[in-house]
Amino acid sequence: KFDGLADTPPMGWNSWNHFGCQIDEDLIKETADAMARNGMRDAGYEYVNIDDCWHGERDEDGFIQPDPERFPSGMKALADYVHERGLKLGIYSDAGAKTCAGYPGSQGYEYQDAMQYARWGIDYLKYDWCNTGEGGAQRNPVEAYTTMRDALYAAGRPIVLSICEWGDNEPWMWGEEIGHLWRTTGDIINCWDCEVGHGNWSSFGIMNILDKQDGLREYAGPGHWNDPDMMEVGNLSTPAEDRAHFTMWAMLAAPLIAGTDIRDVSDSLRTTLTNEEIIAVDQDPLGIQGYAHKKTADVEIWVKPLMDGDWAMTILNRSDEPQDFEYDFMNEYAFEDALTGRRTAFEKEVYDVRDLWAGEDLADTSRPIRKRLPVHDVLALRLTPTGPMPTRQENEIEPDPG
Ligand code: GLA
Repeated sequence: KFDGLADTPPMGWNSWNHFGCQIDEDLIKETADAMARNGMRDAGYEYVNIDDCWHGERDEDGFIQPDPERFPSGMKALADYVHERGLKLGIYSDAGAKTCAGYPGSQGYEYQDAMQYARWGIDYLKYDWCNTGEGGAQRNPVEAYTTMRDALYAAGRPIVLSICEWGDNEPWMWGEEIGHLWRTTGDIINCWDCEVGHGNWSSFGIMNILDKQDGLREYAGPGHWNDPDMMEVGNLSTPAEDRAHFTMWAMLAAPLIAGTDIRDVSDSLRTTLTNEEIIAVDQDPLGIQGYAHKKTADVEIWVKPLMDGDWAMTILNRSDEPQDFEYDFMNEYAFEDALTGRRTAFEKEVYDVRDLWAGEDLADTSRPIRKRLPVHDVLALRLTPTGPMPTRQENEIEPDPG
C-alpha cells in the first residue's frame, strides 16, 4: 500500500450518513466550498468523499463511468474543482459484483477501476463488502482487498484505501499491510443508544459502536487505523450528544469523517467539528488509541496517552440524568496503559488540567476536580506534566523548637 498517506487518522466528509443515494456533483462542489469557507479545511478536514450511488455504466472497454445525470461534468472535472479548493476527492466501490445499493462493483475490474480513479485524480477509495458471495462461496477478504491494493499501487496514484469490511472477518488482523483504515462494525446510525435490525444485518447507535471497540486498540497506529464508522455529528438529538460523539471518536484515534450537511452549518455544529484541541487529541502523532480507565453504569472515564507525556482524559455521561462527577487524582488510581507501559504517578508528579470544550485551564492534579455532567455529554481534559509534586516532608517541616 502507499505509505505516509495516513500517519494520523484521515479527516474529511462523506455523503452517505446524511444523503444516502441523494447525491450529485452540485452537492460535492457545495460541500467542498463550505469546507474551505467554514474553517473545516483549516482545522484539518481534507477528503470530500462520495459514497455509493455515483455510478453509471461501464463503457464498451469496461471502464466505469459516473451517472451522466448526477455527474454531468465527469469525475475529472469534479476532482479538479475539489483540488483547487485545497481538498481531496474520495470515491466508493465494492469488492463484489455489485455495491450495497446495487451499482456496478469492482470484482473482476479491479485494475481497470484503479486506473480510472487514478486518471480522474481520486485520492481516497472506500471499498465495501456487499455481494461478495455467501458461505463457502464468499470471496476471501484478504485476497479481495489485496487485489485492490495492488491495483491502486499499479495505477501509480497515491490513494488512501479504506477497508469497509464490517468486522465479520476481523480486518484488524490483516488490514495493516493492505489498507489505511478498516471498519470494525456494522453501520452507524444517528441515535445515542440503539440497535436497528434490517433482517440479516443491524445498524448501531453511538454508544453501541463505542462498546464494540473493546480489545482492538493494539491493532491501530500510524498508517493503519480502526474505523468505528463515519460520524453522525450533526445528526444526533442534542448538541451535547454531537459533542460527546466527536470527543469519543477523538479518544479512539478514529478517522474523523463528518457525515452531515455542512453546507449551511450552525455555529454550534461548526464549533464542535472544528474544536482544534479535541482534533489534536485525535491527531496526536503517537497515534495511540485511548481506552476506558474506569466504567460505571452511568459514567465512563477514558484516557489516551499523548505526546510529550500528556494525557487526554474524557468523562462520559452515558445516562439520561445529569451526574455529579468528582475525581481526586491524588487518591484515585494512576492511569496505567497496559499497551504502552505509560503510567501516571499523581502523588509524585503534577499535571496541569485543561478543559478542552470550555477552552480554559482548571486546577492542577494536586486538587480534585468536581463537575456536573449534563445528560449525554462529556468533560474532556488534557493533562500536561509540569514537574514533581512537593513531598509532604518538604511542606510540613516544623521550625526546630530548640
Ligand atoms: C454499506 C456501508 C455503508 C455505506 C453503504 C452504501 O452499508 O457499510 O457505510 O457505504 O454500504 O450502500
